[in-house]
Amino acid sequence: MAEKEVVETSEAEIAVHWQEEDYVYPSPEFIAQAWMTDKSIYDQFSLENFPNCYKKYADLLDWDEYWHTILDTGDAPCWKWFVGGKLNASYNCIDRHLAKNKNKTAIHFVPEPFEDKYEHITYQELYVRVNEFAALLRDFAGLKAGDRVTLHMPMVPELPITMLACARLGVIHSQVFGGFSGTACADRIVDSQSRILITMDSYYRSGSLLDHKQNADVALKNAEKNGQKVDKVLVWQRYPGKASSPTEMVSGRDYFVNEVLKDYYGKRVDPVSMPAEAPLFLMYTSGTTGKPKGCQHSIGGYLSYVTATSKYVQDIHPEDVYWCMADIGWITGHSYIVYGPLSLGASTVVYEGVPTFPDAGRPWKIAQDLDVNIFHTAPTAIRALRKIGPDEPAKYTYNFKHMTTVGEPIEPEVWKWYHKVVGKGQAIIVDTWWQTETGGFLCSTLPAITPMKPGSAGPGLPGIHPIIYDEEGKEVKKGSSKAGNICIQNPWPGAFQTIWGDRQRFVDTYYARYCKDPNSKRWQDWPYLTGDAAVEAPDGYYRILGRIDDVINVSGHRLGTKEIESAALTVNEVAEAAVVPVAHEIKGIEPDLYISLKPGFDASAELAQKISNTICDEIGKIAKPRTVWIVTDMPKTRSGKIMRRVLGAISNKKDVGDVTTLANPEIVTQIQEMVRN
Ligand code: WTA
Repeated sequence: MAEKEVVETSEAEIAVHWQEEDYVYPSPEFIAQAWMTDKSIYDQFSLENFPNCYKKYADLLDWDEYWHTILDTGDAPCWKWFVGGKLNASYNCIDRHLAKNKNKTAIHFVPEPFEDKYEHITYQELYVRVNEFAALLRDFAGLKAGDRVTLHMPMVPELPITMLACARLGVIHSQVFGGFSGTACADRIVDSQSRILITMDSYYRSGSLLDHKQNADVALKNAEKNGQKVDKVLVWQRYPGKASSPTEMVSGRDYFVNEVLKDYYGKRVDPVSMPAEAPLFLMYTSGTTGKPKGCQHSIGGYLSYVTATSKYVQDIHPEDVYWCMADIGWITGHSYIVYGPLSLGASTVVYEGVPTFPDAGRPWKIAQDLDVNIFHTAPTAIRALRKIGPDEPAKYTYNFKHMTTVGEPIEPEVWKWYHKVVGKGQAIIVDTWWQTETGGFLCSTLPAITPMKPGSAGPGLPGIHPIIYDEEGKEVKKGSSKAGNICIQNPWPGAFQTIWGDRQRFVDTYYARYCKDPNSKRWQDWPYLTGDAAVEAPDGYYRILGRIDDVINVSGHRLGTKEIESAALTVNEVAEAAVVPVAHEIKGIEPDLYISLKPGFDASAELAQKISNTICDEIGKIAKPRTVWIVTDMPKTRSGKIMRRVLGAISNKKDVGDVTTLANPEIVTQIQEMVRN
């Protein structure tokens, strides 16, 4: 069993415990059109009917060969869903829609520059482009089923095209968030042993065309240093036929996709029929130790789960225009921009840029232009749009029937603005709680069945049976509104299969904590530890308080405090580093960094800047600390451990509690004064 991580200050600790709010009900118009209105759905998916209830989800897909075993628990806790089944994800997301809907828009692409035209890619065009690129991947890059390939791409249609081309061949894609640095990309190349990197020369962000190609050069250099050589870099051009990056191409290694692709025009590639439990993709996420974990998601289980939840929770109908403003580089984008919506044959929007460019009216203009009626975003974006442009939504004539919030707890105040102003009082809201590991939603209201409650995610979805345990492993009384560690009692098809190349870490991190018998092959003995603290209200609604481990959630993006600390420690002058979460008005949580220096070095603004820059280079701008506090010493226990709990309290302007037992209590007042000023 894994040793319990000692976390001295966590998000859950600084969580705001707001009041339980009153229910808000969906309109009769919404209910009349909703996919899921049958209240018996919760019974159909009760634990007694588990796992057979999930046949309903599998049957939303087209299978080349139908499965024979719904859930195989023989290799517990690595669950296998729909065993014996064969299918192809790209076939399910594209080919099966062609007969009736080839002329329908699959992807609406909105470039960030105001003057650039929107692109509307039909299912037929998506089919053609995915086939041609799949042929290139197979014949030019030499990729075959089971190979891993790293993608480091921005929010452009070429990203879903690349993902689907990989899926067509059974190649496992690993997309690294475009905003991550070349160094962060290198770590993921090495861990997944990719020999091909697919990237883009440049993209727009807040009005400037960024040189993205340079990150590929850094990534390759670092990957090679760590033992993974990349043979080919495939570079999409942001403007085909035009050079948009000043970084040189390396001859014999770097290839412009647009040039090579000419040899593959008109080519068709049969979708490779893959076992349901073969991996579809890896998605790296931050954990409690420094190294990011490659969460491995399956083809059959994952695709059925995101298809079903897109249908029943997102309520996506064929005539809807659906826009999820997340980045495809995160799990939300994989599940709810690409795989879920396309599997349903929907029209999905891909927006390149930031929501507030050039002003806070941008999202509502896009919604108006495309007649978007389902909108999906995160609290951090809602807070920012509310702060900068509270009156903007009223200026545009769009109509949302449905809106989603995801990624962080949402304050009831912010929820109400989202509902009243963005949703114009008409749209229903689902607050969906889930994780990279879980593939799709865990808790949420069902939009036409369970009423909304601002600030609460809602009950477990049908088939998801949460349970809250205390530190000792005793169940916290149901509906008692007492905080504890929220777990899921049963497996579900969307759950990740393992951590790439590290089964032991998978078991230790997610299943060891509350496992009833490590030799058991029964799923009942393996509750899944989510790593979040939560409370359950008497009505069965869950409110998520935040992470209980060393992970912090900045603007809805997961970062490991250990990752940031190790980046800081690469700076020569730095002796010790400690990161703590701080509450932030827009971002929800922000990292605050405390540093002590090696003897002989002095604190200066330049040094603080250098440390901050190093973190941006090592990880990416999203990890930039709020402040780098260079302190003369860290508050420490007598055994020399840094007391992050004390630093966390100081950063959040909270009571530091009793510090008299520290080795150096006098330092606390000194740091407090520094932070206060
Ligand atoms: C947090 C994002 C409150 C939670 C899909 C979880 C949320 C982590 C919510 C996963 C929500 C996600 N309310 N907190 N609706 N959704 N979280 O892996 O702490 O990037 O563990 O997946 O975000 O972040 P990840």
